[in-house]
Amino acid sequence: MTDYNLYRGSIFHCIEDGGNVEPVYFPDGLMVVSKGRIVEVGEYSELSAKFSSEKSIVHFKDSLIMPGFIDSHIHYPQYKVISSYGTSLLEWLNKYTFVEEQKFSDIDYATKVAELFLDELLINGTTTAMTFCTSHKQSVDVFYDAAEKRNLRMIAGKVMMDRNAPDELCDDIESSYADSKSLIEKWHNKGRLSYAVTPRFAPTSTEGQLIQAAKLLKEYPNTKSAKGVLLQTHLNENSDEIDWVKELYPQSKNYFDVYDNLGLSGTNSVFGHCIHNSTDEYKRMAETNSKVALCPTSNLFLGSGLFALDELEQHGINVALASDVGGGDSFSMFDVMNQAYKICRLNDYNLDPVKAFYLTTLAAAKVLNMSDCLGNFESNKEADFIVLDLNATELLAQRLKTAKNINDLLFCLMTLGDDRLVSKVYIFGQCAYQK
Ligand code: GUN
Ligand code: ZN
Repeated sequence: MTDYNLYRGSIFHCIEDGGNVEPVYFPDGLMVVSKGRIVEVGEYSELSAKFSSEKSIVHFKDSLIMPGFIDSHIHYPQYKVISSYGTSLLEWLNKYTFVEEQKFSDIDYATKVAELFLDELLINGTTTAMTFCTSHKQSVDVFYDAAEKRNLRMIAGKVMMDRNAPDELCDDIESSYADSKSLIEKWHNKGRLSYAVTPRFAPTSTEGQLIQAAKLLKEYPNTKSAKGVLLQTHLNENSDEIDWVKELYPQSKNYFDVYDNLGLSGTNSVFGHCIHNSTDEYKRMAETNSKVALCPTSNLFLGSGLFALDELEQHGINVALASDVGGGDSFSMFDVMNQAYKICRLNDYNLDPVKAFYLTTLAAAKVLNMSDCLGNFESNKEADFIVLDLNATELLAQRLKTAKNINDLLFCLMTLGDDRLVSKVYIFGQCAYQK
């Protein structure tokens, strides 16, 4: 007999119908889970009879059940870099980030931070992330070990960086290729884990190293039976960075062309930021089906600039939202959505709340090539879900009394919400965190 787990409460997720994003909302819903996967979601009144012989229902009163958040661009080694004062990107990297990342040569230190980082993701309702590690191979091993123990779906990669950084953090062309390859062999598609080839960004890689990164992408492509490795890096985040790339790669048409020309663009490639893209770069990113992780909290914290979600969408580019901790100053995807909304307001348009939640769930799953198993509550997807307490704060509870519909409810959550709302987190059908 099939073993079902039943959860009753308000349920929300997004679906895509012919390219349109639509919210699905059951004010009194039932979610049926079996063996770590979604069986069905629907109205409690309709579904409960079908499963009435099953064991007792877990009832989450005054709560919203939704898919776990997916953070498509984050740096686990920057857990303690968060909240570093007073600099823009390049100075911030040298003054804080490269100093902290050197500590990850110590396996015990790296292990502790990996555990703290995963704790913090769950506290904030983030169930999947694609994270940079450091250039130390072991920083990746300890991260995967920690994620595997918790049965989390995670993507990680060893930073490739062979110039313009402290010697202690620099690898070289051969070792970065060999280390990345052995990590791929060990971890990629092992259980819920996958690998992302991770050249930090063009200024810290020689052309030779980027060529090796592209070689790895070609050696592990998508096939019928297995997903290929992803690629994560940074693009067009800061004006000084862009000037620097012009000096370092004078033959390139633009920043994206550095990656594109060497074979690093494509459907498995996720570029962080993209806030100063030229029209040519938008067009070429669309042509190559390259993906974008937008990082609003980071862009505001470091003063990098304002992204243009409308242009990205007009070009048909697949986009998700991401925290970019420790450039970003919050692990909370509520905060990420909130700041994304304000960036759009500064550009004189609105980010509607359903879209905001889409960009942190299903759209992020698409960006990571994981919408077959994550992102919403379609049947057979993996049951990574969170329970939000709608009475977590007095202000929220009071404000929600006048919320008229799901859009209004979601907008209150993304502007007033934080980790206090996350009362439970389920990973593959098992409760992994309880407030
Ligand atoms: N560009 C290169 N490295 C980094 C990093 O660690 N954080 C951010 N935000 N941008 C980068
Ligand atoms: Zn980043």
